Amino acid sequence: MSGMKRIQSPRSMQELGLEWRRQGICVGLVPTMGYWHEGHLSLMRWAREHCDLLVASIFVNPTQFGPGEDLENYPSDIERDSALAAECGVDVLFTPYKAEMYLPGHGTWVNVPELTKNLCGRSRPGHFQGVATVVCKLFNLVQPTFAAFGEKDWQQVAVIRKMTRELDIPVRVEGRPIVREADGLAMSSRNVYLTAEERAVAPHIQKGLCLLEGMVRAGERDCGALRKAVRDYYAAWIPSGVLDYLELVDPETIETVDHVHSDFLAAVALRLGKARLIDNKRINLEK
Ligand code: PAJ
Repeated sequence: MSGMKRIQSPRSMQELGLEWRRQGICVGLVPTMGYWHEGHLSLMRWAREHCDLLVASIFVNPTQFGPGEDLENYPSDIERDSALAAECGVDVLFTPYKAEMYLPGHGTWVNVPELTKNLCGRSRPGHFQGVATVVCKLFNLVQPTFAAFGEKDWQQVAVIRKMTRELDIPVRVEGRPIVREADGLAMSSRNVYLTAEERAVAPHIQKGLCLLEGMVRAGERDCGALRKAVRDYYAAWIPSGVLDYLELVDPETIETVDHVHSDFLAAVALRLGKARLIDNKRINLEK
């Protein structure tokens, strides 16, 4: 296929996706909500290397936003994203119409309750139901061979993996590393909400997780002590931040651990001004 094609009709996308599947073409999908940064682009560049045809989707999925969240203000720049997509070698940019993704009376939902009791599932009720449902729909429309997701949203990858496995969806789910700014802040479309002052202290979110890793590697095993040290660090360095959660969890089950194991995930969500920022660090003591 030469030149990038933009598809807005879910039905047309599905016709094409089914045709590709019939022909045995390897299709990679990168689902996004747009306003791309290097994190999104890294997924596309990686996927580009591993497929014959690359589809990127942009859809600000209303069902994964809670009341009072930033659905109305979610940043968007479709012209810019479209140019970036072409640069990354995207073959099809799928930007479905909202009204055709959710018809009036839509009432079928995908839930993965075991993995969504903790972290963002706890602080954003209904969020992962919206994510799992839209990703399931995107998989059915695009019919990809594999789909790439960022580990910045670690819990999201875990939820999508479990859904895909347990509902027998024939898509391989690939998790890819977090892309950061030079000063360590995890890239996010929501970083544009930060004022200059907030942006200046935001790198301390990751630094707190590095502090935690240093303590664990120095022998600290008490989760209470670890969490307190990071909370104190945030209170000192990001005084205007409001901690939503800071948890040590099992990377697969997302359950809180009370003693540090050889392999765990430290995950944080912090409100800073208008932004809610998340980050995480996998700490594997055997590596
Ligand atoms: P969005 O926030 O646009 O993110 C799209 C993809 O980019 C996700 O897989 C996310 O984990 C990844 N990503 C975001 N920031 C990243 C970073 N700094 N490094 C690496 N990857 C990063 O996540 C969503 O959209 C939605 O929930 C979606 C899956 C599209 C369903 O609506």
